[in-house]
Amino acid sequence: MRRLIFIAVLFVVIAEIANTQLVEVPVAKEEGDELGDMGFNFKEEEIDGGFSSLDGMLQWAIGHSDPGVLKERSEVFQRMSPEELKERQTEIKELVEKLKMPSDAQLMQIAVNDLDNSSLPLEHHQRALEELLVLVEHIDNAIDLHKLGGFSVLLRKLDHFEPQIRTAAAWVLGKASQNNPVVQKQVLELGALPMLMKMMKSHSTEEALKALFAVSALIRNNLIGQDMFYQEAGHTMLQEVLSNSKLDIRLHKKSLFLIADLADGQLENENTAAVPFFSNRLLLKAVVDSMASSDLDLLEKALYAIKNILLLRSAEVQVFKDFCKLNEALERMRQQLQQFMVEDDLREYATDLEGLRREVELTFLQKLDKVTQAAR
Ligand SMILES: *[C@@H]1O[C@H](CO)[C@@H](O)[C@H](O)[C@H]1NC(C)=O
Repeated sequence: MRRLIFIAVLFVVIAEIANTQLVEVPVAKEEGDELGDMGFNFKEEEIDGGFSSLDGMLQWAIGHSDPGVLKERSEVFQRMSPEELKERQTEIKELVEKLKMPSDAQLMQIAVNDLDNSSLPLEHHQRALEELLVLVEHIDNAIDLHKLGGFSVLLRKLDHFEPQIRTAAAWVLGKASQNNPVVQKQVLELGALPMLMKMMKSHSTEEALKALFAVSALIRNNLIGQDMFYQEAGHTMLQEVLSNSKLDIRLHKKSLFLIADLADGQLENENTAAVPFFSNRLLLKAVVDSMASSDLDLLEKALYAIKNILLLRSAEVQVFKDFCKLNEALERMRQQLQQFMVEDDLREYATDLEGLRREVELTFLQKLDKVTQAAR
């Protein structure tokens, strides 16, 4: 607020000078410093009669409150034509407009400073995180946040004693990393992944959800991130979520979606070595067992996960058959879907899913056939 008043005063002063009235410039030095902090680079050049730039004029207005100098400068304005004066006034007006609306980088800097200031109350930190959440949606802002040291500050908040703060920090990290390889790399290098994976054990559903969101955002289409995820026992993390029926169903859905996505990515990189993640028996069984759900959306995600894993060259069809009992699970699902088809509002969705289920079954049987033939 103080800044706005200052700018308004400055505007009036310069406008008045332009009208060749001599006035005192009521500008305190510290105010000028504050403006400098806002990112303006005042030119150090000597002013010789005229103002080579708006910056130069501002510097003069701020730094020269000496009445003698002021008088001298006002003569400069007296020599200006009305057109020139008008142009100056427009320039200043534009500058004032610009100053009223700080840039995104400035807003982020303020939010990061607030977040990093432990003497501020929690509500301030919460608000700073909310602001960052909106700002990082812009891909350039997300990249700039790193330059401001924002990610290190956010990472420290993952350890905060207040679950709400941890949750919001994970959310911002996830948002910033989404579809952004530059940010993914930066956040991974800071070591965020193991911290976020640990947060999955939280008793707070919201915290676990946002942590899983951030983990997915960090490793999506990112081979280095995926390697880290596998090394940090990502299979155990996901298997534990899927096997825990007490957990919120959204966590189950997000986990299945992530598995399907990882397998899909692996399909495109088949020439690299097989990833043990996709042959982990307990994980595969947890995915197949989730097919007992009566939530169609979850069933769809489970089917996609199984389908994508089965398409991998390294797919352990025998494990799917003997250990996971995929045949039985598919048959049970067929019967369940038929019951859903009787209901008007579910018929269409259930029919689509039956198509997908049959596709999975076919892929499974074909692969199984190949394996048995090879064994003969
Ligand atoms: C932290 O916030 C307090 C209270 O607003 C403020 O006085 C202090 O200058 C801030 N510290 C930093 C390092 O910005």
